[in-house]
Amino acid sequence: MERHHQHFVSNFGIDNSQDWKYLDKSDFERIFALEVPDEAVVLINQLDLGYRFLTREERDSQILKILRILDEPLVSSGPKRLETWEKGWGQNLQDYIDSNYDEAALLPYYYRRGQTIMRLWGDYILPRSPRFEAHFLSVLQVIIAHAYFRHVPSIYEFGCGPGHNLLAFGRIVPGKIYHGLDWASASSKILNLADSRANKTHSENRFHGHFIDLFHPDPEFHVDPESAIFTFGSMEQLGTDFEPLFNYFYSQPASVYVHIEPFSEFSSGDVLLDVLADRYAKKRNYLDGYLMYLEKLQESGMLKIIKRRKLIGSTFNDGWCLVVWHHC
Ligand SMILES: C[S@@+](CC[C@H](N)C(=O)[O-])C[C@H]1O[C@@H](n2cnc3c(N)ncnc32)[C@H](O)[C@@H]1O
Repeated sequence: MERHHQHFVSNFGIDNSQDWKYLDKSDFERIFALEVPDEAVVLINQLDLGYRFLTREERDSQILKILRILDEPLVSSGPKRLETWEKGWGQNLQDYIDSNYDEAALLPYYYRRGQTIMRLWGDYILPRSPRFEAHFLSVLQVIIAHAYFRHVPSIYEFGCGPGHNLLAFGRIVPGKIYHGLDWASASSKILNLADSRANKTHSENRFHGHFIDLFHPDPEFHVDPESAIFTFGSMEQLGTDFEPLFNYFYSQPASVYVHIEPFSEFSSGDVLLDVLADRYAKKRNYLDGYLMYLEKLQESGMLKIIKRRKLIGSTFNDGWCLVVWHHC
């Protein structure tokens, strides 16, 4: 039977005598190599971003666990996973309605799975709070929105899930049109409710949900000129089949394309954690070769890559790598 190991909760000890570190403003500057705005600093000071590195024994046992899991069948990405996404976002949709349209109800359940080992600065870390990843996400949303979305009229998230990133951008860089595209019908329903029912944090914010199949994007769907195109963990699901989506993106008049994805190119065959990540990504048929493809197009003068950076990862892979490009 296939097992899905997204929910890989750690049982390593959380004890105050251990050597806890806390991500601060300078850590985020180092991670992103972007300005960390005051709004992000407020969050950094408020949220528990404590972590520690693993002991040698913990690290060994963690690697052993991963090796064992890599020998098992894993769920691979692709069209057969639509039902899983639909079910997950359907749960968020119901929570959103039940909570009278509280944005907090939109946080995907994979951010609520408890303490999981993560990857930072080339090593494993144990977060102190079970919400560490969600806390990191809140800071990330502010840094990314300030860096790339402040001056665009509209933001399009392709593979938006329950729309939590778009609602966050609506608070951080308000007064725009926020479009969420996904093949799960619950995603559009959530965004349309955010537009029509929820109390908006800013009266001019507009939210729209649309259907898309990222494998076959509709060339008749046009994004607004000078807008931003954003993907976060959705191109991950395309394996090597990213060319139709790229061709669609390239044909659009967006001013910036921001991806946070598990880019395979950040792995080195000589680094243990990278090799483990690579084996995992291959087994799950995750995005493969997209950055190299963008680099080739850059060489031929078609586009310019303005950012490429490994940010943070989960137990199994460096899922959050930032790549930003624009037309030449
Ligand atoms: C890991 S989730 C990421 C959701 C959201 N971007 C986030 O940051 O949490 C991947 C999303 O991509 C969507 N997706 C995957 N393959 C797709 C496809 N071929 N067409 C449209 N959406 C797809 C899924 O429905 C899901 O919402």
